[in-house]
Amino acid sequence: MKITVVGTGYVGLVTGTCLAETGNEVICVDIDENKVKQMQSGEVPIYEPHLDVLFERNIKAGRLTFTTDLHKGLDHGEIIFLALPTPEDEDGSADLRYVLGVAKDIGEYITDYKVIVDKSTVPVGTADRVRETIAEYTSTEFDVVSNPEFLREGFAVDDFLKPERIVIGSSSERAIELMKRLYKPFVRSGNPIIVMDEKSAELTKYASNSFLAAKITFMNEIANYCEKVGADVDHVRRGMGTDSRIGKRFLFPGIGYGGSCFPKDVKALHKSGKDANFEFKILSSVIDINNDQKTVLMPKIESYFKGNLSGKKIALWGLAFKPETDDIREAPSLYMVDKLIAAGANVTAFDPEAMPNVKRKLKDKIDFANGMYETLDGADALLICTEWSIFRTPDFNKIKEKLNNPVIFDGRNLYDVEEMQDQNISYYSIGRKTV
Ligand code: UDX
Repeated sequence: MKITVVGTGYVGLVTGTCLAETGNEVICVDIDENKVKQMQSGEVPIYEPHLDVLFERNIKAGRLTFTTDLHKGLDHGEIIFLALPTPEDEDGSADLRYVLGVAKDIGEYITDYKVIVDKSTVPVGTADRVRETIAEYTSTEFDVVSNPEFLREGFAVDDFLKPERIVIGSSSERAIELMKRLYKPFVRSGNPIIVMDEKSAELTKYASNSFLAAKITFMNEIANYCEKVGADVDHVRRGMGTDSRIGKRFLFPGIGYGGSCFPKDVKALHKSGKDANFEFKILSSVIDINNDQKTVLMPKIESYFKGNLSGKKIALWGLAFKPETDDIREAPSLYMVDKLIAAGANVTAFDPEAMPNVKRKLKDKIDFANGMYETLDGADALLICTEWSIFRTPDFNKIKEKLNNPVIFDGRNLYDVEEMQDQNISYYSIGRKTV
């Protein structure tokens, strides 16, 4: 099939590349000339495991091309995916400027039937607004479909190629049939394509992300309570997770969820509730608790250093909001850095992928090291903000040798408390005994 993807951010790029992988002819459109040039020369502009291999293969096969020319893209695709940014407005709602802007261009330009697919996470009612905007400018037949994505960063290619479900929101049989044909190769395993109306599809995405954010937040509160009463959240987590109604996943407490989706989507759903005169009480709590959770280790650090962090050097492992990505949007590490610097400490950080992004954002506010152990030279404490695999089994003797004080503040519960006790390392984690 002939596919056009407008917007080559994270979602657009993965969508375009994976759709080319099943033999479709895909044109990706972006207004950023440099980025388009970069992609034309075969360079993937984001870090995402496995994407580079598919990218190269499909470019070579001539199935995946890039352009800045929207009209060329609109001529090409029978199905036009909109994978445009929906940034957070000041009031927390999703800004639809880009989506509706392109909808207008589509209306002004198309001359034959197109299926316009909302792939971006957009508030309930956006498909209607896209439809109305296009219809204002054309009498050509078209359909608008809501087809939310559920890709996790770091697993996006796998999630796209083997989705647990595909959600299609549409009221047009013609569009539904086209979408089903497009996605058929991805659900050979028998996973469902769930067809519903546009609004329900739009809400499914927000409800899924908000539910997961609430699940994590619930565990973070349980963890904080465990510390008060001397329980161990690791035991509680295992005890709960084996109940299949609860499930093992997304029960890991830590220093809060971050990234480009959860924080934005929870706030956007909360705000759209307000706009509809509906108060999402649970989401207000999720937002508040997660804000506090990002710096929940700070009082522990302050109390360890008896309230005086001035001139202390903190080694920081992990800057990305989660492992296997270079994304630092809403990363808890950045909130910790702010607090540490405000308290007079110096920070030397290491992250396997995210350092260039942090350098661009923080300039010389913090120092960077070439490796995880290099951060420790002359440091007074080690702080862990992201659970990269490389941090899971470190050489504890090396850590003790290098640190001025053998102390670890672990925001991701990477180590066994007993092992830290045996190692004579002071160890502060989330929802477990401090040793
Ligand atoms: C998420 C959704 O999973 C995906 O379906 C959606 O389309 C986009 O948003 P992503 O942001 O890539 O994906 O990350 P995810 O792996 O879901 O983790 C989100 C955040 O939750 C991270 O900050 C992670 O550290 C945190 N998290 C996750 C926890 O704190 N505990 C957990 O148990 C799981």
